[in-house]
Amino acid sequence: MAAARQAMNKNTSINASERVTQSHPLTKSDKQVKSKKRVADHGEVFTAEREVNAMLDLVQQETERIESRFLEPACGNGNFLVEVLRRKLGVVDGRYSKSQTEWERYAVLAVSSIYGVDILEDNAQECRTRLYKIFDDRYNSLFDSKCKVDCLKSVDFILHSNILWGDALDFTNPVTKQPIVFSEWSAVNGSLLKRRDYVFRFLVEQSHQFSLFNDEGEAAAIDEPIKDYPLIHFLKLREDDTTQL
Ligand SMILES: C[S@@+](CC[C@H](N)C(=O)[O-])C[C@H]1O[C@@H](n2cnc3c(N)ncnc32)[C@H](O)[C@@H]1O
Repeated sequence: MAAARQAMNKNTSINASERVTQSHPLTKSDKQVKSKKRVADHGEVFTAEREVNAMLDLVQQETERIESRFLEPACGNGNFLVEVLRRKLGVVDGRYSKSQTEWERYAVLAVSSIYGVDILEDNAQECRTRLYKIFDDRYNSLFDSKCKVDCLKSVDFILHSNILWGDALDFTNPVTKQPIVFSEWSAVNGSLLKRRDYVFRFLVEQSHQFSLFNDEGEAAAIDEPIKDYPLIHFLKLREDDTTQL
C-alpha cells in the first residue's frame, strides 16, 4: 500500500483521491455536537455509536448483504453509513480475502451501495473521507503493497457520486439549486458495472407511492433513469472517463 500511496502522491492528476484523503484528516467522529449554532440551525446532533449499532442490528441481515442499498437523507458526517460499510466489508473479508480480485470487486460493490445527503457541505465531505478511510485501511491491511491505485480511484469516484451535499427536503443543492441526482451501480458479469442516474426527487416520490398517473391513466414513468452509461470495468471509474460517457 505504501507503494500505491506513493504512486498516488506522485501523480498530480489524481485530484479526486487527493481531495478525499488529504482535505479532511478526521476519520473517527466521537463528538455528537459540533456547535450550538449548528444544532440551532440544522438540528445537528450526531447519533452515538451504541445507538447506531443497536438500530442497525434491527436490520442486521441487510447490513450484511453486500449489494443491499442504503440511503441516508440527513447523513451528517456518516455515523450510520460508516458502520454499514464496516459490516459489509466484514462480510467481504470473510468470503473473499483469499483472492484480491474478488475482494476488490465485492468491496467496491459494497461502497457503491451506500448513499448519503447532507445540507452542510463539510458533513458530506467528512462522510466521504470516513468511508474512504475504512475502505483504504481494510484494503491496506489485506493486500499491502499489492493494493491498486485504480481501485482506490474507483472508490473515490463512487463516493463523490454517492455522498452528496444537498437539501433532502427540496431535493436540490443548497447553492446551485441543481436537482440532486444519484447513480445506481449494478454489477454485470463479474467485473463490469452498469451506471444509471436517477433524479432523487423522483426516487422519493416513487417510494411514497402516490398516484402519479399520465394522461392515459397509467403509472407515469418517474423511475426512468435520466442517464444510462455504457458498461465499465469496476477498476476504471474516474472522472475523466465517465464524463465522456
Ligand atoms: C440529527 S443530525 C443526524 C446526523 C446523522 N444522521 C446521525 O445520526 O449521526 C441531522 C443532520 O441532518 C442535516 N440536515 C438538516 N436539514 C437537512 C436537510 N433539509 N437536508 C439534508 N440534511 C439536513 C444536518 O446537517 C445534520 O447533519
